[in-house]
Amino acid sequence: MEDKRLAVVTGGNRGIGFEICRQLALKGVEVILTSRNQDGGVKAVEKLNISGLTNVVFHQLDIKDPSSIACLAKFIETRFKKLDILVNNAAEVGIIIQDQEEFRTGGGFVSISLYKS
Ligand SMILES: NC(=O)c1ccc[n+]([C@@H]2O[C@H](COP(=O)([O-])OP(=O)(O)OC[C@H]3O[C@@H](n4cnc5c(N)ncnc54)[C@H](OP(=O)(O)O)[C@@H]3O)[C@@H](O)[C@H]2O)c1
Repeated sequence: MEDKRLAVVTGGNRGIGFEICRQLALKGVEVILTSRNQDGGVKAVEKLNISGLTNVVFHQLDIKDPSSIACLAKFIETRFKKLDILVNNAAEVGIIIQDQEEFRTGGGFVSISLYKS
């Protein structure tokens, strides 16, 4: 059996994310199109499936919700047992300060998301 590569695309229901899903699927990659909004994601997958790209499936994902992330991880583990490509397209503006006290004294870990969606 052919071992297809598997991709997850966040924010795949519209815009750049949707086009990334389409391009990956055209190249024969198995795509999990994820979106925060269930209806928008299902409709986006239907659109791709109708155009002949049957190698795209939907799974709900809100990148800010840990339980939603865990649910997607379980789905991938159970159904595909691997992940080859992760396209982190959906993004939020924000700064995460890991340790408030360390940050105040000049240390600590800071994570900055540059793009806004
Ligand atoms: N377009 C540009 O010119 C441009 C330039 C530089 C960088 N970017 C970056 O490229 C990415 C895509 O841009 P775009 O123009 O295609 O954006 P877009 O049309 O606004 O689409 C953003 C996507 O991200 C999803 N999203 C937002 N918050 C989310 C969350 N918490 N969990 C899961 N999905 C979430 C949205 O889902 P919902 O439908 O549920 O809101 C939507 O599918 C963004 O990160 C953007 O900042 C875009």
